[in-house]
Amino acid sequence: MAIALHGVGVSFGPVEAARDISLAIPSGEFVSLLGPSGCGKSTLLSVVAGLETASQGSVTVTGQAGMVFQEAALFPWRTLIGNVAFGLEMRGDRRLSKSERLARAADALRLVHLSRFADSYPHQLSGGMRQRAALARALVLDPDILLMDEPFGALDAQTRSLLQAELLTIWERTRKTVLFVTHSLDEALFLSDRIVLLSARPGRVVGDYWIDAPRPRDPRTDAALAALRSRLLAQLSHEIETVARAEHDTDWHAETDAPRVPPPPPVLENVGADI
Ligand SMILES: Nc1ncnc2c1ncn2[C@@H]1O[C@H](COP(=O)(O)OP(=O)(O)OP(=O)(O)O)[C@@H](O)[C@H]1O
Ligand SMILES: [Mg+2]
Repeated sequence: MAIALHGVGVSFGPVEAARDISLAIPSGEFVSLLGPSGCGKSTLLSVVAGLETASQGSVTVTGQAGMVFQEAALFPWRTLIGNVAFGLEMRGDRRLSKSERLARAADALRLVHLSRFADSYPHQLSGGMRQRAALARALVLDPDILLMDEPFGALDAQTRSLLQAELLTIWERTRKTVLFVTHSLDEALFLSDRIVLLSARPGRVVGDYWIDAPRPRDPRTDAALAALRSRLLAQLSHEIETVARAEHDTDWHAETDAPRVPPPPPVLENVGADI
């Protein structure tokens, strides 16, 4: 297994983010994590990346992991190729000369179709190009596992579907293990071998679905995929409603608890008459 989680729980003080997560992901599988906001998806990625420690359970990760976030955190003062080569510099790989590092960075930029922009600075690029650069920066280290946290969440629909298709091509070529967090069911259905559905916080696994529909996929023409989509949508909506209800209740209590107006004093005139 590339990733094996057994009974993983993560708490931040009194906040229980994830509970009893068991998940075995074989090498080369493309898995999407789907669930309502705040259910612990990013937390789980951080645990797999080793940036956060689990409060309970065991985490086994075989191989090196690379991370891609929603907002590409590129250095504005470095060119694209400089940004991509940075990871190799950080790793302090003494076997690689500067020209070898640049050659590898150029290869990674080619994979994401950014060769023409190697000498551009991040501010000269569109959001989609910056996300491609972030992917190149993860790929240049040739990780065994790609951890992607809503990498296309901030992009417009057209750019998003272009990058999804590119990611699939790269994945089919490299067969890296991918753990991909998204809020989009359609994105998960388009990309993944498997969709893991998490409950409202604390996140627990409430669904684990394998998708064997051939790629490229289109739920409009694939009846089995459409049926799976409806089923997942119903389950996901249920979890999202749970969050909405809990948030509504919290605000409701906050509103009624906060500015307490003292009750009017009891009217005493007729007390004697009642007794
Ligand atoms: N470092 C931290 N310190 C304290 N609480 C945290 C920390 N990181 C996450 N949390 C809490 O853990 C819970 C899960 O957060 P997480 O970011 O993993 O959710 P998510 O599923 O990624 O949400 P979203 O879909 O909105 O990105 C939230 O209640 C959050 O406030
Ligand atoms: Mg998140």
